[in-house]
Amino acid sequence: MSVAAPEPRENMGAAAPRIDGRLKVTGQARYPADVKIDNPAYAFLVTSTIGKGRIRALEVDRAKAVPGVIDILSHENFDPVEDLPFRQVGSTIRPLASPDIRHDGQIIAVVLAESFEAAREAAYQIKATYDEDEPAAGFDSPGVEIQSAAEAEDDESVDLKTGDVDKALAMAAVTIDARYETPTQHHNPIELFSTTCVWQGDRLTVHEPSQFVYGVKHGIAKQLKMDPDKVRVVSHYVGGAFGSKGSFTQRTALIAVAARRLGRPVKLVATRDQGFTIATYRAETRHHIRLGARSDGKLVAYTHEGWEVTSRPDTYYVGGNDSTARLYAYGAVRTKLNVVRADRNTPGWMRSPAEFPYVYALECAMDEMAVALGMDPIEFRRVNDTMIDSVSGKSYSSRSLMRCYDEASLTFGWAKRRREPGAMRDGDWLVGWGCASAAYPTHISPSTVRIHLSAEGKARVEVAAHDLGTGTYTVVAQQAAERLGLDLSAVTVLLGDTDLPPGPNAGGSNTTASVCSVVIKACEAIRAKLFRAAAGINRSPLAGQPASQFDLKDGRIIGADGMAETLERAFGQLGTATIEEYAEWAPPSAGAEGIKALYEGTTKYSGGTEGDKLMYAFGAEFVEVRVHARTGEIRVPRMVGAFAGGRVMNPRTARSQLMGGMIWGLSSALHEATEIDRRAARYVNDNIAEYMIPVNADIAAVEVILVPEIDREINPAGAKGLGELGNVGTAAAIANAVYHATGKRVRKLPIRIEDIL
Ligand code: MOS
Repeated sequence: MSVAAPEPRENMGAAAPRIDGRLKVTGQARYPADVKIDNPAYAFLVTSTIGKGRIRALEVDRAKAVPGVIDILSHENFDPVEDLPFRQVGSTIRPLASPDIRHDGQIIAVVLAESFEAAREAAYQIKATYDEDEPAAGFDSPGVEIQSAAEAEDDESVDLKTGDVDKALAMAAVTIDARYETPTQHHNPIELFSTTCVWQGDRLTVHEPSQFVYGVKHGIAKQLKMDPDKVRVVSHYVGGAFGSKGSFTQRTALIAVAARRLGRPVKLVATRDQGFTIATYRAETRHHIRLGARSDGKLVAYTHEGWEVTSRPDTYYVGGNDSTARLYAYGAVRTKLNVVRADRNTPGWMRSPAEFPYVYALECAMDEMAVALGMDPIEFRRVNDTMIDSVSGKSYSSRSLMRCYDEASLTFGWAKRRREPGAMRDGDWLVGWGCASAAYPTHISPSTVRIHLSAEGKARVEVAAHDLGTGTYTVVAQQAAERLGLDLSAVTVLLGDTDLPPGPNAGGSNTTASVCSVVIKACEAIRAKLFRAAAGINRSPLAGQPASQFDLKDGRIIGADGMAETLERAFGQLGTATIEEYAEWAPPSAGAEGIKALYEGTTKYSGGTEGDKLMYAFGAEFVEVRVHARTGEIRVPRMVGAFAGGRVMNPRTARSQLMGGMIWGLSSALHEATEIDRRAARYVNDNIAEYMIPVNADIAAVEVILVPEIDREINPAGAKGLGELGNVGTAAAIANAVYHATGKRVRKLPIRIEDIL
């Protein structure tokens, strides 16, 4: 075993390498824009250079004269497609529907040409003139509209309340009152946003990287008023998504309509900078937190008011207090959420959408309170650890937060920490150690699957789920191999195609739990058939034995006494060459309705705070920072994270997800922010040269500890999901370590040199 493939501990599967790894590193994996298409026309987008106003004129003559240009679509010649409600589409702002400009970088024209280069050249030749209005860029801009989310949604339950917070705060021995801020971020997956549309008669095939192919299928069918059965969406591989490919976007219809007009396939690969405005992003947030505690460290009150930027028409918010309000035994709780409407494109999911900003703010406040109490921050959290949510009174199905702290602090060497800030100086470097909690709700959703097993012992698993680089192909194959008693190499997995039975939107870290649960169900049906057959074979070593005690192992059927029967003879007894099982699995709260919704392009998530029990994965993250005493440069020589997420299907892919999350957390703490020109409401650093992300030299030692946890209540697979857990605690741990190193509280991300000097 290597570091990359940790030895499995209790309740963990094998650390199998990714089954699609070779295809990816040899370039054989076809991402949607790589699929070979006959005679495509190429599309290039033209986007607005203002944040608000109207197109006065589009001059296209010079563009049309570029050799190879076929057509130019704009609001002047494009018949708007059907409107979709927000959430069926990531933004209701329809491009080419009118001359109105609602945000910077809005699509205003689509050039179609014989080559990508001709389309791009022509796009550069289009001249747009505008009647400009003054846009509101975001927080503090004149013209923003601030509204409570409860009012926007006409739903009081958005805000949480228990006990008398004001009284508890007034009586508390120690109080903290602090404001925190997180910036705009863009996902920037390596794979760009692409759409390729191919019509065959009245049938449409869309090749598009997606976290939810059934969502795209039904979205486009509705927009084009088509029978969904005539739409196929294919997305076998996704080159990173992080939420940016979870929502159906307005660009798909533009390309589908273009391909229909031209009577030939059309392929669009949007540029990196266009990706900043034609898809979603993480909007900036603000937080006001108050904590009250007794002198022994017991919390008595927690208030948290959040503000989130969204677009004018769409009420998108993440509302992370749904998680933070359950994290500790607070006593009294009061939360409030506000949306701030600005002239921006609509934000959307980005890795741990709700938990990243809200838990960051809370975990910084927790550190501030520990300091104010004169307590060790781990002990402070231990005193307030709880199996019962004070808001709902429900208990956690399992909660291993303090076990994570115990394992991570031991590995990190926390016992050697000197508590006073600035006490661990090493020459010119101020050394700081900090920690924070990570928490992420266990989302589960309905899924279906079809599994074939042949008499030769080869299995094929088919489900329109998605592998975003996370390891879905591998863990699904492992789950089927385990239940069917096969070698991993005997299992083929097909994903990402609406010709397959539907799987859930790959959001909320639900895929492993949901898809493995339905795979188990289908495998159980196959096993039952084989076992009944084996028990009935004449003169079989298993004849007369109870089928209920059979197992599948090494491609054979094994009896309780260890005697074996071959698959081939069991298939002979059944009189078939292949067993094919289709199964549906839905969490009880979603039921059959959830399966129906899935077929219609909607994932109904359950879990987290919704059921009878709270379902959450936890982690504890520790970091060492070194802050240069003269220059303020901040380095992070080591990070240790311990995480408990129920059954770990594959320690290798699990570690990879968690490590990637921690690295992204570091990036959020010290590097990343989309800079906005406040006057023009435009993104300035809309490229990966100026959008800061860490490079190898910024990341030194990252250690991931997988803490064993068994939870039989969450779902049949017993898995909680790890994709979004890793980056929840990192930024707070770093901010807390910077305080420990320097004595300076920086309450705004990212932390920069100028904040230290
Ligand atoms: Mo994830 S941000 O729920 O795709």
